[in-house]
Amino acid sequence: MIARIRKNEELLEGYFIVDIEAEGIGLRKAGRPAVPGQFYMLKAGPSTDPLLRRPLSLHRKLSDDSVRFLYRRAGRGTALLSRLIPGDEIDVLGPLGNGFPMPAGIKHALIVGGGIGIAPLMALADYISDERKDISAAAFIGGRSREYVLGADEFSRKGIETFTATEDGSLGKKGFITHILDEYIHEHKHKGTGGWAIYSCGPHPMLISVAAMAKKYGIKNYTSMESNMACGIGACMGCVIGVLDREHGSSVYKKVCDDGPVFDADDIVW
Ligand SMILES: Cc1cc2nc3c(=O)[nH]c(=O)nc-3n(C[C@H](O)[C@H](O)[C@H](O)COP(=O)(O)OP(=O)(O)OC[C@H]3O[C@@H](n4cnc5c(N)ncnc54)[C@H](O)[C@@H]3O)c2cc1C
Ligand code: FES
Repeated sequence: MIARIRKNEELLEGYFIVDIEAEGIGLRKAGRPAVPGQFYMLKAGPSTDPLLRRPLSLHRKLSDDSVRFLYRRAGRGTALLSRLIPGDEIDVLGPLGNGFPMPAGIKHALIVGGGIGIAPLMALADYISDERKDISAAAFIGGRSREYVLGADEFSRKGIETFTATEDGSLGKKGFITHILDEYIHEHKHKGTGGWAIYSCGPHPMLISVAAMAKKYGIKNYTSMESNMACGIGACMGCVIGVLDREHGSSVYKKVCDDGPVFDADDIVW
């Protein structure tokens, strides 16, 4: 679909939010709302350079006709996006993929994000605080330094207990956010962690560490994976990752765009 830019602002050097509007952009095909963890493929401008759309996660659903993305200028595609101004048109496909599962019995969500990984987790926090009053949440947000800890204030404003960590100690605890997560679970585990689930998105080493911790404590971990994508709709096999096939005791390739991007971390061949 062709959508229109409503707002495109640089939050800090190289990091932007863009609001995009088009009729029904915040809805899935069946007319139900896009869910946290889903993504869109976006292409700035009609030119063939770059040829392919780029994937960005739903950051906030503003209305049925308007969605927000949080993005980092990484290369050519996102640089072109960053130059669009209100009123410009943009080619968008989505929402795509599967969102964060919220199976029956979940009582406490641990939301763990690093850097730009906070993008889909904000949509999850919106969903929990607006629509799932039966679920409590705690957020663990890490970044290189204070300015790269994105969204922490917003999580706190929602009433979510929020912990931060920075590598240089300029905000929260000095070190990795995974240490704080470990301390938190360790401190609370005597009360029982049944009904807890960890939702993670961020740098690959952080995801590996969170997955190992979840396994150690016996807590479910749903993680949003990244991969270079060409089509975004399951047609090119360009985005595959290794996932365990428990039935046959082997590993198989799964498409991040179509089978994910959210996976059970325990299934991933890290
Ligand atoms: C499901 C999904 C959701 C995503 N959501 C967001 C989001 O909400 N916000 C955001 O800022 N980014 C997100 N990304 C990453 C984003 O798609 C890439 O940064 C973007 O495609 C880079 O395109 P480019 O043309 O600007 O850079 P390119 O010129 O294509 O690449 C520049 C650099 O970025 C690396 N890169 C390219 N694609 C990816 C990728 N998919 N993952 C990791 N590194 C990549 C390249 O290896 C290269 O080093 C998401 C990726 C996926 C798969
Ligand atoms: S990007 Fe083409 S199959 Fe996933």
